[in-house]
Amino acid sequence: MLTILHISSCLQLSREEAMLKFVVVLSFVACALAGTIPEGMVSLNDDLGGRIVGGTPTSISSFPWQVSLQRSGSHSCGGTIYNSRIIVTAAHCLQSVSTSVLRIRAGSTYWNSGGVVISVAAFRNHEGYNSATHANDIAIIKLASSLSFSSNVRSIGLATSTPGNGASASVSGWGTQKSGSNSLPSQLQYVNVSIIDRSKCASSAYGYGSVVRAGMVCAAGSGKDSCQGDSGGPLVSGGVLVGVVSWGYGCAAARYPGVYADVATYRSWVVNNANSI
Ligand SMILES: *[C@@H]1O[C@H](CO)[C@@H](O)[C@H](O)[C@H]1NC(C)=O
Repeated sequence: MLTILHISSCLQLSREEAMLKFVVVLSFVACALAGTIPEGMVSLNDDLGGRIVGGTPTSISSFPWQVSLQRSGSHSCGGTIYNSRIIVTAAHCLQSVSTSVLRIRAGSTYWNSGGVVISVAAFRNHEGYNSATHANDIAIIKLASSLSFSSNVRSIGLATSTPGNGASASVSGWGTQKSGSNSLPSQLQYVNVSIIDRSKCASSAYGYGSVVRAGMVCAAGSGKDSCQGDSGGPLVSGGVLVGVVSWGYGCAAARYPGVYADVATYRSWVVNNANSI
């Protein structure tokens, strides 16, 4: 709930000073540096970011690597199946939580029914995760029992290189369909977006500046974005996982692309930690 308070005060500041665009941007940066997730995490379970706007309902068979990460039975974040025991998600999805309340649902188009629900044995956040800057926003979860693969449950490989600027990608999830909404679609949604590389995303072509750091990659489409509740979920391009939904300012806001943990940067971290957790 802390995050929501931060968010609403950030947004209020922005509105009060809405005539000064530069101040609006600075107030956003100040909020970001103060440790909020600027997109206004509604949540659904207190701190979750991520964000599918402008999406199309889809079926799990088209995104069989997607899981719903749940806290006490409620959807909180997305995740991606790396192997039958390991899920990749965002570190901000796993702050101040104990494994006992965590479950994942895999193999279902609906976050609240079907497929299989599996308990969590352990999780590990990236050691360098920084809640103030969102740097290194990646984590892995070890499941208490193995997933059985099928047409609806499957792993996906990790990118070995960051896709180039303009590459097409898809992001999927059960997140809200507009910024600030507090209702989740029960059916999985996806959108197609284009990759924006880090240097372009941090340039004056967009509104973020240097808060888009090494280890982050952006993606956007007109009126299309991930949104609250999509955090931790998969951004896929060329048949591999290229991004983990991390943060953004609003959802589908002009000049503010969705920001993702760049999977190619964290590939060896995931591989090594999946072997040692
Ligand atoms: C998204 O892209 C895929 C692959 O190019 C394409 O098959 C699909 O029709 C697109 N979906 C939408 C909603 O544009």
